[in-house]
Amino acid sequence: METTERVEHRTSRRSFLVKGAAVGGGTVAAGRLLSDASPAFASGGLTKGDAAILRFLAAAELIETDLWRQYNELAGIQDSEVPGGSGNPAYTEAVAVLDEDMAQYIHDNTDDEISHARFINAYLRAHGAQTVNLDKFRTLPSSKATGAQQIGRLTNLMQLTVNTSFWTRYRSDSLNPDFGDTLPQAIPDLATGQHPAIPRTDADLAPPDHLQSIANTAGFHFAWVEQGGTSLYAALAQRVTHSEVLRILLSIGGSEIMHFQTWQDKAGNAPPLTDPTTGLTFPDLNADGELTQTNLIMPEPTIFLNRKFPIVSIIRPTQTKGAAMGTVKAFTGDGLFIGQSKKFFAVLTRLARAADAARHGS
Ligand SMILES: [Fe+2]
Ligand SMILES: [Fe+2]
Repeated sequence: METTERVEHRTSRRSFLVKGAAVGGGTVAAGRLLSDASPAFASGGLTKGDAAILRFLAAAELIETDLWRQYNELAGIQDSEVPGGSGNPAYTEAVAVLDEDMAQYIHDNTDDEISHARFINAYLRAHGAQTVNLDKFRTLPSSKATGAQQIGRLTNLMQLTVNTSFWTRYRSDSLNPDFGDTLPQAIPDLATGQHPAIPRTDADLAPPDHLQSIANTAGFHFAWVEQGGTSLYAALAQRVTHSEVLRILLSIGGSEIMHFQTWQDKAGNAPPLTDPTTGLTFPDLNADGELTQTNLIMPEPTIFLNRKFPIVSIIRPTQTKGAAMGTVKAFTGDGLFIGQSKKFFAVLTRLARAADAARHGS
């Protein structure tokens, strides 16, 4: 039996995104979908905790989608899968210095985020749970550079402060933020001040090293975004109740890991330079030993759980306590929400607190 809702999902995921999901409880359609759901849910809906975790993840995925769409409009591939924008040739070329396939990867990462947000909201709806729609917060300005759509955005990619400690975190064999350790920055300049990761106007397209520094910033930001998703899914998975919800978190989380792995490989190709306009410096990461060496992209074994155990190659951090609020703080610290309303922060904080209150079994 096919509901109208299912037909819509299969044939037009873009219209779903444009319309967004209505914030509201289950409907008759949701009840009918339940009969198609897995046996785990045959007798009822999601636990309160599972719904809260999925809702926070839906919000995080909508935020990821918004920022990736901006990258795709300017430096990706604009097509029916990821529509919007018309490309900025000079910026696209500067991003391609990191890898000639960058446009394809940007497109595919964007497509993946669209699918993550859409799936999680559809799953919530199918179980009669409230979904997440952030459309009313799409108020931030677009880049004025050639190629960008002029529409309201959830995120700001023009004033970023990128924490590049993830780079050394995955190369250290003795430190782990879950033990309270602080890892050094790979690109110290990116971790302070405010830097555009996309051209703000066509004035940013020259001189060449200024544009390349914007493209390099994007390269490290791509990896930063996806290392965050990598940790977030692993952290929240520890507190879900139903095995099917665990399956969702492990399966989507794994795709975040694949993104991160790709991007940290590409970021290592960012040419060392100093931006003649801003002074932002990308140092030679291969000049200073293993903690920044670019080809060490496999997670170096490090301490995990207890120092009495041998070091092990793992995702880190994965500490679950406060993981959702930690993500909101990280997004905020990154500058992604500069210009957002108090109401936006209130909604996001409420979703994060509810997710962090979730416990396995409740
Ligand atoms: Fe995602
Ligand atoms: Fe992601």
